[in-house]
Amino acid sequence: MSRDGLRSQWRERAPLIAPSMLKCDFSNLKHEVKLLEAGGAELLHLDVMDGHFVPNLSYGPVVIERLREVTELPFDAHLMISDPAKYLDEYVSAGCNAITFHIEAVPEPVPLLTRIREADCLAGLAINPGTPVEAILNVVGDLDLILIMSVEPGFGGQAFQPSALEKVRQLKQEVEDDVLISIDGGIGPKTITDCANAGCDLYVVGSAIFEAADYQAAISEMESLAAAPAS
Ligand code: DX5
Ligand code: ZN
Repeated sequence: MSRDGLRSQWRERAPLIAPSMLKCDFSNLKHEVKLLEAGGAELLHLDVMDGHFVPNLSYGPVVIERLREVTELPFDAHLMISDPAKYLDEYVSAGCNAITFHIEAVPEPVPLLTRIREADCLAGLAINPGTPVEAILNVVGDLDLILIMSVEPGFGGQAFQPSALEKVRQLKQEVEDDVLISIDGGIGPKTITDCANAGCDLYVVGSAIFEAADYQAAISEMESLAAAPAS
């Protein structure tokens, strides 16, 4: 799907739960993808780590390329790597549809955001808990997606940091509505309502799906909570 098509689709379908394929059963990846599809997932969040930008390694384009063969779900790649410009083409060729990298890794992000858009992918920037929203405000016109980290990147299963909520509220005020706001880290039934009240569109969820007995029940519970935030 084209960049514009996907951006409109996610905007219309939001709130969306984006399963993070970091906590899945890697010995049976295809089966996990099929369970997520059957469970109603509308995209997959792919956490790429290089052991340098973050102190952990996950998987790269070779695995993503094979995943592309087993599903048509859009891939939302989250590149936690020091040099995303060097490897961008590989992630595009592997079949990613949205590509997000970190402002902390690329302080002058516009050329890379432009390359991502030229590849007909959604261009995203992520910000760590310690990075203020101001770090990206001057480039929002070049962005399709902003990923607010509500934990330090690198590991699943960490506790949600509520300071992320103020960043979401601030972005909601300062950024055009067509820029999607995603939140990542520690999202589950107990934290998602606050995120929805703050104005998130996409909710990246690892542990709260993969530790659940029933992915479908977990996804639909969080979708309902995000769709009807308590005031
Ligand atoms: C952390 C990753 C997240 C993480 C989410 O670096 O970006 O996507 O896997 O996992 P949970 O939901 O367990 O915090
Ligand atoms: Zn992520």
